[in-house]
Amino acid sequence: MSARIHIRINAIGQWGLVLASKPISANPFRLVKKISPLKLIELTIRRLFKSHSWPSICKHMIQSIFKSDLPQLELIHQGKVRDIYNLDNEHMLIVASDRLSAFDVILPQPIPGKGGVLTRVANFWFEKTRSLIPNHLSDRKLEEVLNPKQIQKLGDRAIIVKKLKPLPIEAIVRGYIIGSGWNDYQQSGSICGISLPNDLRQADQLPEAIFTPSSKAPKGNHDENIGYDQMVDLLGIELADQVRNYSINIYTLAAEYAKKRGIIIADTKFEFGLDNHGKLHLIDEVLTPDSSRFWPMDQYKPGSSPPSFDKQFVRDYLETLDWNKAPPAPELPVEIIEKTAGKYAEAERILTAT
Ligand SMILES: Nc1ncnc2c1ncn2[C@@H]1O[C@H](COP(=O)(O)OP(=O)(O)OP(=O)(O)O)[C@@H](O)[C@H]1O
Ligand SMILES: [Mg+2]
Repeated sequence: MSARIHIRINAIGQWGLVLASKPISANPFRLVKKISPLKLIELTIRRLFKSHSWPSICKHMIQSIFKSDLPQLELIHQGKVRDIYNLDNEHMLIVASDRLSAFDVILPQPIPGKGGVLTRVANFWFEKTRSLIPNHLSDRKLEEVLNPKQIQKLGDRAIIVKKLKPLPIEAIVRGYIIGSGWNDYQQSGSICGISLPNDLRQADQLPEAIFTPSSKAPKGNHDENIGYDQMVDLLGIELADQVRNYSINIYTLAAEYAKKRGIIIADTKFEFGLDNHGKLHLIDEVLTPDSSRFWPMDQYKPGSSPPSFDKQFVRDYLETLDWNKAPPAPELPVEIIEKTAGKYAEAERILTAT
């Protein structure tokens, strides 16, 4: 048996070397005899990363948080991306990890720095939309609940928010026709029952932004589009109208802003929650590359799917594989991880740079 060393990222984002056996070699110690164990490890890592530089390899190893670990707090929910800890009756701590989900499956490797990008971008939009609608951000300081080492390790990924009652729907606004909306339109001439002109091309701008809610699926299931009537059944007409109006208004404000920066917000998803007085708040994440499709305007050309700053890049890569989109997801090559991290960072830079 000859020994082969593999490097793996395990489910919690830690890296390790795994010694695996493979038949059959005449001299099992052939490799090890010729070079020192350290050299062997170095060569293996370099080969695996296809000669990526050490700084880049180290970045992947050190800067990622796949799962947060805050033993002094009670973990009450682990979503596809966020770890949520209970603080008191009115507050929770949300950590946006570097996990990435595609086709509703969590990928086995983190995207370095992604959680920080998501949190900073969401905070940027919470601030911009504050005059339109209150949001879940709280004034409490992280220092009250985390120690300095934890604060340093989490970077910008953690925020303290008001604990609100999430509405059981996702509020999707589409300004352009793409993704599942394009598929729906090709089959039915409408999106989620909303009729549209019959000459639209893929990625065309819609005559006006449309609101197409979906139900929030339980863990492991896919969200499902619902008609406005079904949303009214769930929320009541008054709240449903409020959610629709806020969603369109926030999207319009953000799309106009982003356009000036050279980014098209093709579509996005909002979540809302109620406080104890029944007042509507914007919660979760808002207008991030995870919850929205961002297209660089200079490369926008209707008729095909434009390049984007979001996880479409990873989805496109996964589509090239023979994977049935059920867990477990395949591992991503380091080039794809790096490019994805770059796209998230670029979206943040363009949108929020002063
Ligand atoms: N202020 C808040 N109060 C109560 N719940 C909140 C608040 N902000 C966010 N949430 C909830 O926290 C959860 C965040 O989890 P996360 O975003 O990781 O995964 P997910 O929503 O299950 O999946 P995905 O975002 O990929 O669709 C969501 O269920 C969201 O509704
Ligand atoms: Mg979410």
